[in-house]
Amino acid sequence: DWTMASYKDDAIEKIRAQVGDKRVICGLSGGVDSSVAAILIHEAIGDQLTCVFVDHGLLRLNEAEEVVTMFRDNYNIPLVHADEADLFLGALEGVSDPEVKRKTIGKLFIDVFQREAGKIEGAEFLAQGTLYPDVIESVSFSGGPSVTIKSHHNVGGLPEKMGLKLVEPLRELFKDEVRALGRELGLPDKFIGRHPFPGPGLAIRCPGEITKEKLDILRQADAVYIDQIRKHGLYDEIWQAFAAILPLKTVGVMGDGRTYDYALSLRAVTSVDGMTADYYPFTHDFLGETATRIINEVQGVNRVMYDVTSKPPGTIEME
Ligand code: XMP
Repeated sequence: DWTMASYKDDAIEKIRAQVGDKRVICGLSGGVDSSVAAILIHEAIGDQLTCVFVDHGLLRLNEAEEVVTMFRDNYNIPLVHADEADLFLGALEGVSDPEVKRKTIGKLFIDVFQREAGKIEGAEFLAQGTLYPDVIESVSFSGGPSVTIKSHHNVGGLPEKMGLKLVEPLRELFKDEVRALGRELGLPDKFIGRHPFPGPGLAIRCPGEITKEKLDILRQADAVYIDQIRKHGLYDEIWQAFAAILPLKTVGVMGDGRTYDYALSLRAVTSVDGMTADYYPFTHDFLGETATRIINEVQGVNRVMYDVTSKPPGTIEME
């Protein structure tokens, strides 16, 4: 794409002019925006950039490993992987109120990021994947950490607090333009086309108390569900699809035995911007096949439900 190619060259020049020979830190989440920002900045200034990936242990199956592999091995970008799953799980122990969950995760996320960023000597800039719609932002995600560290609604004042200046190379772009730029930078289509994923991660897909056991079940079930959607060629028609694990166990029968396991809720919606959404009309065959696969392949689940709530009145996420 000619336009994006020249946009890219321009953006690289601007980053070089702004940053000079100083060091830059970029928070990575595994999402498209922060990834595109990081790769673009790396093209501009190479190893003056260090990425910090705060891994809260609430990502999907294999996601953390994929982020690390992509950045370290494919792109050769210096990356600090702060694997803090235990820290986050510990802090979330006994917490079931959705807002307390979000605040707990948001606060820890900032603490860990700040700690790791503080170890990077001589850093003067903080890079963020802020997009144009974020700049004119009207929505607030009630305190959760964003996919990138977006000061306006998530980590208000962090750059100032850390004495860092902001680098925001995506500030003029809309989401589809960021995707085009990502392609221009060589990111695989599969990565660029991924459904949105919330900053607080699986925590808000696990209503009630979060446990390691529940997260493991959820990760397995979600992977089977998404695999089904991809196999049936439906992934790109859907804005967002995911499994949620419900805070209840129900009785079932398997072979000649009684089971008492978790119930899951599957969600899939179409949407233009996430502000409103309709539930996706899967066929009954698809739903039946998916429920059977999940129950057969995932230990600890014996019941699957499909969420037919649109937004409003529901939200896309469970909490
Ligand atoms: P809801 O559940 O409010 O979600 O209908 C709308 C869209 O926003 C995503 N979402 C978040 N994204 N940080 C994020 O970066 C958050 O705290 C957050 N909460 C919800 C959600 O996945 C959906 O795409």
